[in-house]
Amino acid sequence: DNEVTLRPKWIDEYIGQDKVKEKLKIFIQAARERKEPLDHVLLFGPPGLGKTTLANIIANEMGVNIRITSGPAIERPGDLASILTNLGEDDVLFIDEIHRINRTVEEILYPAMEDFALDIIIGKGPSARSVRLDLSKFTLIGATTRAGLLTSPLRDRFGVMLNLDLYDIYNLQKIVTRSAAILDIEIEDQGALEIAKRSRGTPRIANRLLKRVRDYAQVVENGIITWEVARKGLEILEIDDLGLDSVDRKIILTMIENFNGGPVGVDTLSAATGEERNTIEDVYEPYLLQIGFINRTPRGRVVTKKAYDHFEIPFIEE
Ligand code: ADE
Repeated sequence: DNEVTLRPKWIDEYIGQDKVKEKLKIFIQAARERKEPLDHVLLFGPPGLGKTTLANIIANEMGVNIRITSGPAIERPGDLASILTNLGEDDVLFIDEIHRINRTVEEILYPAMEDFALDIIIGKGPSARSVRLDLSKFTLIGATTRAGLLTSPLRDRFGVMLNLDLYDIYNLQKIVTRSAAILDIEIEDQGALEIAKRSRGTPRIANRLLKRVRDYAQVVENGIITWEVARKGLEILEIDDLGLDSVDRKIILTMIENFNGGPVGVDTLSAATGEERNTIEDVYEPYLLQIGFINRTPRGRVVTKKAYDHFEIPFIEE
């Protein structure tokens, strides 16, 4: 599918996240020179920034296979044991949403990460004993939205922690331009910039908007994505000029109308908007914080004057 072909395969094709790339290149080269697997890597940051893509790049650059799973998919310790025993030497195991693995599964991970060993309990009751099974060396790559969601024993077992940030519009513009070339879409620089500006700092959103604007350009216009075509296509998608969608608007307007602009706690906001607390924290807040529409205070979130101005609501200083 397109998503796969849009994903860069090598670190030098990966746009943005310069600090992450700089560190990774060094760690990858060092491990390769020593003929060792890369140390375990924790990737954290908001959804859609390319954590899975980076895991694939790491495996590719290391010249090893990757096995991809997710926290919620590993239901029982036996599921993880079976994955671990089937890994090849130095392979990458990628666990997305690693904060969602359950406690009993997590305990299997500790000796696996630390000693490349699997402790198996044989028998029941007083005669039960533990047998240690050797595993191949491997690299665990975990992905999560916030490092703080992991228990500290799990977090402490990652030798490399990499924090992905929201992208600036120039890097998003490069990603849109690159994706358009791969998908054979004709786009002007200003068209790519307009899509970038409305992508909430997120490549996954940029690529989605590009495809929808292409549909509009193809059916309603002459197929070329100019600045004007991008603007009109995005207007139909109800994405405003800062990239805010209906949920962003609901969050801000609820804070203004029901809570006088805050401070309001995230659980209260969740109840008032009907959006899940985790979705508010991981998906909506990071971008609203980045564009300066909300601030975090010890007593909760507050709406800034900038947001009132954007929605053309009078801001009254207390
Ligand atoms: N597609 C998604 N994220 C990307 C990135 N960081 N660089 C290039 N293409 C991408």
